[in-house]
Amino acid sequence: MTSGIELGNTQALTHMIESMRKGKLEVVYNDTPLEIGRKLGEGNTKTVYDAIIEGNPFALGLPNTVDSIDTVKTVTSMVQEWTVALQEPANTDRIRAMGLFVNPTCEVMRVDINGVPFPILKMTRYQDLSFQVMDGSNSHSSTIDSNLLPEEFDDAYYEEHLANMLPDLQVLTQNGAQVNEDSINICIVDRKPRIYFSDLGDAEFELIPEEGLPGIAKRYTMHLHLTFKNGLTEAECQKHRAFFDSNLFRANNSENIYHRLNRRLLHLLCE
Ligand SMILES: Nc1ncnc2c1ncn2[C@@H]1O[C@H](COP(=O)(O)OP(=O)(O)O)[C@@H](O)[C@H]1O
Ligand SMILES: [Mg+2]
Repeated sequence: MTSGIELGNTQALTHMIESMRKGKLEVVYNDTPLEIGRKLGEGNTKTVYDAIIEGNPFALGLPNTVDSIDTVKTVTSMVQEWTVALQEPANTDRIRAMGLFVNPTCEVMRVDINGVPFPILKMTRYQDLSFQVMDGSNSHSSTIDSNLLPEEFDDAYYEEHLANMLPDLQVLTQNGAQVNEDSINICIVDRKPRIYFSDLGDAEFELIPEEGLPGIAKRYTMHLHLTFKNGLTEAECQKHRAFFDSNLFRANNSENIYHRLNRRLLHLLCE
């Protein structure tokens, strides 16, 4: 399902993609050209721009016309990817309804790009959220501007700090949803890390068999520390460098932070 929105004919899309690749980007909404600002970031599927819509700032998700190794994509693969991307608003609504943190605004918006009708995504910008965000796949997009950890702390403190995110993953899983690691970002609420779910085009909603739980727990917990550390300010990361370089994060330590969180999450998922 693409919210009933057609992705247009191949010839028109080819025209739009070719002109975008040449650097032209004209987005028209309700007959009015939008003010497109700087690029906020990009992933394999989307290029996200700052834009003003009817006087308010938003993040606009447009198709990325090249992949991560700069190979030009075919129109067919772009249509397939964008069909998945357009599921993001509906999937975001479902995860919001579970009481979890997601984009407050995530909508499909019909515009003309370089003269071709095309559905894009309109989202709240990270900088306009009521909480700060650590983007797991792009640390430059993190909006953290102050220290999150005390001057000194031990491994038990750090484990508990990250464990604040485990109940969010429990709620997600027990409601039958599964997400890609890229969808697991972190937000800071009451000075504690919580999961901020975004980039949800490929989220899946189906009953999760019990034998699938260990794999899910492992996949999610491997991600938490790296996303948290990548989202800290450079200064705070440097300050705790000895701690982050310690044995607590080594793969050959069976009591490392990943194993500890993994055991705790699996326990919650099996409750
Ligand atoms: N709402 C937003 N506000 C600010 N930046 C954003 C927003 N959404 C995405 N971005 C930036 O765009 C990048 C790509 O977005 P993402 O949703 O991960 O796209 P993809 O589907 O291609 O993986 C993000 O890593 C981030 O840098
Ligand atoms: Mg992404």
